[in-house]
Amino acid sequence: MPETAPIPITVPLPEPGAVTLVIPTFDESANIRELLRRVAESVPGHLPCEVLFVDDSTDDTPAVIAEAATSCPFPVTVLHRERPEGGLGGAVVAGLAAATADWVVVMDGDLQHPPHLVPELVATGERRGADLVVASRYLPGGSRAGLAGGYRVAVSRCATWLARGLFPRALAAISDPMSGFFAIRRSAVTDAVTGDELKPLGYKILLELAVRCRPERVAEAPFVFQDRYAGESKSTAREGLRFLRHLVELRTAAPLARMAAFGLIGLTGFVPNLLALWALTAAGLHYLPAEIAANQFGVAWNFLLIEALLFRDRRHHRHWADRAGRFALLANADLVVRIPLIALFVGQLQLAVLPATALALLTTFVLRFAGTEALVYL
Ligand code: GDD
Ligand code: MN
Repeated sequence: MPETAPIPITVPLPEPGAVTLVIPTFDESANIRELLRRVAESVPGHLPCEVLFVDDSTDDTPAVIAEAATSCPFPVTVLHRERPEGGLGGAVVAGLAAATADWVVVMDGDLQHPPHLVPELVATGERRGADLVVASRYLPGGSRAGLAGGYRVAVSRCATWLARGLFPRALAAISDPMSGFFAIRRSAVTDAVTGDELKPLGYKILLELAVRCRPERVAEAPFVFQDRYAGESKSTAREGLRFLRHLVELRTAAPLARMAAFGLIGLTGFVPNLLALWALTAAGLHYLPAEIAANQFGVAWNFLLIEALLFRDRRHHRHWADRAGRFALLANADLVVRIPLIALFVGQLQLAVLPATALALLTTFVLRFAGTEALVYL
C-alpha cells in the first residue's frame, strides 16, 4: 500500500469558513480508517470541518465509518442511500444538499485524492475570490500517477478533449474537468440543488456543476493523483457510455439545442429505414407496403435514441408502451400530413414544389418535435 508523507500546511488559511467534506463511498470499508486519519492530520484545528459520507455500499462501510468516527476530532456523518440514484454524481448531489458549511470539498474515499490539499483548495478559493477550485492533474506540479495503464490515460485524455470542445466557455478555466476533487462555495450551488436542476449521470459531477451552475470564478491547484490505498476502482465500461449520455444531455439542455439534436437523431433514422426497405423488397415485398414497414424501423430506432439521450428524466410520466405508441403515431402522422401540406403550400401560397416541400418538411419536423415534447413526454 502506498505511503505518502504528510505535507505540512503552509498556506495561510481563510477566515474560519467551515468546510463540509463530501466523500462518496461504494464498498470502501478498507479505506475508511486511513482516510479519516489523514483528514484529521491534514485539517488544522482552526478550520472547522465536518465529514459527510454519502454511502451506497453493500458491504459494512457504514459500520466501519461509525466505529472510526468515534476517534475523530470533527463530526462525521454517514448518509446511507437505499436507492442509489445517479451513481457517484447522484451521491455528491445528495451530499451538497445535506452540507451546511460555506465550502464543500468533494473528495474520493480511496485516498487517490490527497487529503492534505483540502485546506489549500479552500484557502485558494478565499484568496482568489473563486466559487470553484479544481484540483487538476494537468497543471505543472500535478500528474496522473495513479491512473493505472496507458489505456486509462488515453481514455481520460480523450474525455477531457471532448468535454472541453463541447463546452468551451464553461470549461475555459478548467484544465481537468474530469477531476473528482474540488472545492465549491455552497452558495454557488444552492439554487441548482434546491431547484432540482442537477441531473448527474455517473462519475463526472464536476462537469455537471461547471456546466449547469456556471460558477463565477474558477481557480485551480495542481495535484498528484495517487494510487488507490485499498480495493479496486468501481468504474466499469458502462461508465463510459454513461459519460457520453451525460455529455449529450448537458449539450442539449437548451430548447433549440434539443430540437437540433432531435433533428440529428431523426436523420440517423434513415439508416435503419433504408436497410429495412432493402431487406423487405429483396425478400419480395411490394415496395409500397415495404416503405410503410421500413418506416417503422426508422421510428423504432429514433424512439430508442430519443428515450436514452433526450428525454431520460421525463420517461416516468407514462408507461414505455404508451410512449412508444404515441411516438409512432406522431411519426406516421408526419407522413400522412406532409402531402396535403405540400398541396396547400403550392395551391394557396403559390410556392414552387421544391420550396413547398422544404417548408412542409420543416413544419412537420417542428410539429413533431413539439408534439413529442407535449404529448409523449409531458
Ligand atoms: N456513493 C457512491 N455511489 N459512491 C461511489 C459510487 C456510487 O455509485 N461509485 C463510486 N463511488 C465512490 C468510490 O467508493 C470512491 O470513493 C469514489 O467514488 C471514486 O470511485 P472510484 O471507483 O475509485 O473512481 P476512479 O478512481 O475510477 O475515478 C476517480 O478518479 C477519476 C480521475 O480523477 C473519480 O473521481 C472520477 O470521477 C475521476 O474522473
Ligand atoms: Mn479511485
